[in-house]
Amino acid sequence: MSTITEMTKTELLARRAELQETYDSYKARGLKLDMSRGKPGAEQISISADMLTCVAADEYIAEDGTDTRNYGILCGIPEARRLFGEIFGVPADNVIVGGNASLTLMYDYLSTANWRGVCGGQPWASQKAKFLCPVPGYDRHFAITQFLGIEMINVPLSETGPDMDLVEELVKDPAVKGMWCVPMYANPAGITYSDETVRRLAALKPAAEDFRLMWDNAYCLHHIREPHDTLLNIYTEAEKCGNEDIVMMFTSTSKISFPGAGVGAMAGSPKNIADVKSRMTVQTIGYDKMNMLRHVKYFGDLAGVKAHMEKHAAFLRPRFDAVETALSRDLAGKGIAEWNRPNGGYFVSVNLMPGTAKETVRLLKEAGVVLTGAGATYPYGVDPADSNLRIAPSYPPVEELEVAMTLFCICAELAAIDKLLK
Ligand SMILES: Cc1ncc(COP(=O)(O)O)c(C=O)c1O
Repeated sequence: MSTITEMTKTELLARRAELQETYDSYKARGLKLDMSRGKPGAEQISISADMLTCVAADEYIAEDGTDTRNYGILCGIPEARRLFGEIFGVPADNVIVGGNASLTLMYDYLSTANWRGVCGGQPWASQKAKFLCPVPGYDRHFAITQFLGIEMINVPLSETGPDMDLVEELVKDPAVKGMWCVPMYANPAGITYSDETVRRLAALKPAAEDFRLMWDNAYCLHHIREPHDTLLNIYTEAEKCGNEDIVMMFTSTSKISFPGAGVGAMAGSPKNIADVKSRMTVQTIGYDKMNMLRHVKYFGDLAGVKAHMEKHAAFLRPRFDAVETALSRDLAGKGIAEWNRPNGGYFVSVNLMPGTAKETVRLLKEAGVVLTGAGATYPYGVDPADSNLRIAPSYPPVEELEVAMTLFCICAELAAIDKLLK
């Protein structure tokens, strides 16, 4: 098969006419399909339904005797801290269990750093703070740093993680205060940082003493295919270099139990945890301990969480397979697109022919398929190559996904041909 760039103008025009006809027939169907956000659908959420009835009305006492219905306990009940300690791979004392969203914990951390400083340091806002952003990355991370007025610097992400030569160079600037990291099944690239990348990050010696890796391990247990990826424990590696203050870890059960009613948690060094507690003590008397108790009763321990995650994997696998099948069937070898085949997480990242991502999204939208906007995976919403698109296969039923993906491929090819014909 010849790639699209090898085709003559006549061949391109003929192929274009063929694609347009198919596109028009899909458009006439009045589709309404959504592949925009990485959220589970109702059926997948129901996997965790029993959690709502696993605690009786009179079971509200935590293991240390705390009445979970009442005020108190800033950092979370001990059994919940222990469970998240197992998930993070750190002692329970290094963990703070929060409310339903890890994103709130990340926002609060950076917002406090920005106006008040980290561990007694100067407010970042007074130092024109900059942040390293592996790209493509998570749009909501970038939204936080943009909202706080922190300048974002793109760092290319490869199969092994962020470009570490560049990171090591950039952190020599004392204004560079941190870096976003989704180290496992990255959103959207689906890659997991290699051992070497984790070791190099753990050993970083940034010019800024208050530099922090925002280690968002949202997908740490979210395997879909075997053999699944593995990730080195950054905290242990950083400790080996006496560098444990550099890392703030975050995760949640949003995609383990309920996206709207899970439990978020953070972990860090004793110094960092004490720093966060000094702010939290003003912010809240304590998060929702009844929900923490419900989660611990339901899962028991890390092994219980892992067993539960297999049910999610069984649900998600056919959806990821449907995406892979359509992309390979319709776009492979055409020189139009490259994509990943992740072993876990929630996304498939597609790099289209440069200059065609926006047009592909527009064509899809006109035919009733909503995708995350082109550029969303880059800081400030600007993908310099106009190439990367994020596909979120979890929400639609498989049959709908198959239709949406067929149309995706048609639109990507139409946009590529139009680009070449211009
Ligand atoms: C990398 C990443 N971090 C965090 C979140 C949101 O987490 P939470 O629901 O705990 O706020 C998401 C959701 O898509 C995500 O992809």
